[in-house]
Amino acid sequence: MKEYIEANKHSWATIAKEHYETFKTILLANESTLSQTQIQELGNIEDKTLIHLQCNTGADTISLARMGARVTGVDLVPENIHYAKKLAADFGINDARFIESNVLEIMEKHDEKYDIVYTTEGVLCWLPDLYLWAHNVRHLLADDGFLYVLDGHPFFMVWDEDKLPDLVVRYPYFHKTADRDEWIGGYACEPKKAVNYAWMYTIGEIVNALSQAGMHIEWFHEFDWLYYRVSAEKQNKDENGNWAFPEHKERLPFTFSLKATIR
Ligand SMILES: C[S@@+](CC[C@H](N)C(=O)[O-])C[C@H]1O[C@@H](n2cnc3c(N)ncnc32)[C@H](O)[C@@H]1O
Repeated sequence: MKEYIEANKHSWATIAKEHYETFKTILLANESTLSQTQIQELGNIEDKTLIHLQCNTGADTISLARMGARVTGVDLVPENIHYAKKLAADFGINDARFIESNVLEIMEKHDEKYDIVYTTEGVLCWLPDLYLWAHNVRHLLADDGFLYVLDGHPFFMVWDEDKLPDLVVRYPYFHKTADRDEWIGGYACEPKKAVNYAWMYTIGEIVNALSQAGMHIEWFHEFDWLYYRVSAEKQNKDENGNWAFPEHKERLPFTFSLKATIR
């Protein structure tokens, strides 16, 4: 498993600088990189301590700080941490902290507790062990804290994304081995050639992992839109900043979100 994580670390490092530049431009023009959906679901986070897992180059972390949270970002990749610190400094967010760590190992080195554990948009698929992830999340949470996740719906993950909106199953829902890809990125810069590995999870596995770690799922939402653009011609952007395929609206799930607390 270690070599898969090392490959992913290397892949994400190759696009760190371009992500920093893209997100800096976006944050200069916009108050937030979070969608209205996320902002509404999170509620008031003012003065809350928040740890952002898989923070990339920190754009969402800065948006959360702008909403009043006291933020700490975590990412596997030293280059992402470097650019996240730089981005925070660019926008005068001087009390943001960033930690370089595999999220599956954070409980071994970080003992602080948080009101909110936040992780969104392209996260669970990078983790080879969801049960270990849930235990790390539980470790980070204050007794009355909550976890917020928004990510690709497990049922969306089965489709061949090059063929959407045509529905061609490329990855079986119950697929258990790592999927090897030769390209990384694409949502905030041009894709780069760099071998990386990702994993599929079912809804049951997400629910069971959290339950086994002692968490209670308060709600689990399913949405008929994606949080990113696969194809400008084939998706419409709605008033909340989310991207839907018109032919699949109200028919198929593409994104889920959940809120979980300690049981
Ligand atoms: C798709 S990005 C997250 C998207 C993020 N919302 C954004 O704004 O760009 C996935 C992130 O997960 C990080 N990552 C992948 N595996 C990880 C791991 N095991 N531990 C910590 N971070 C990891 C990558 O470095 C990358 O920054």
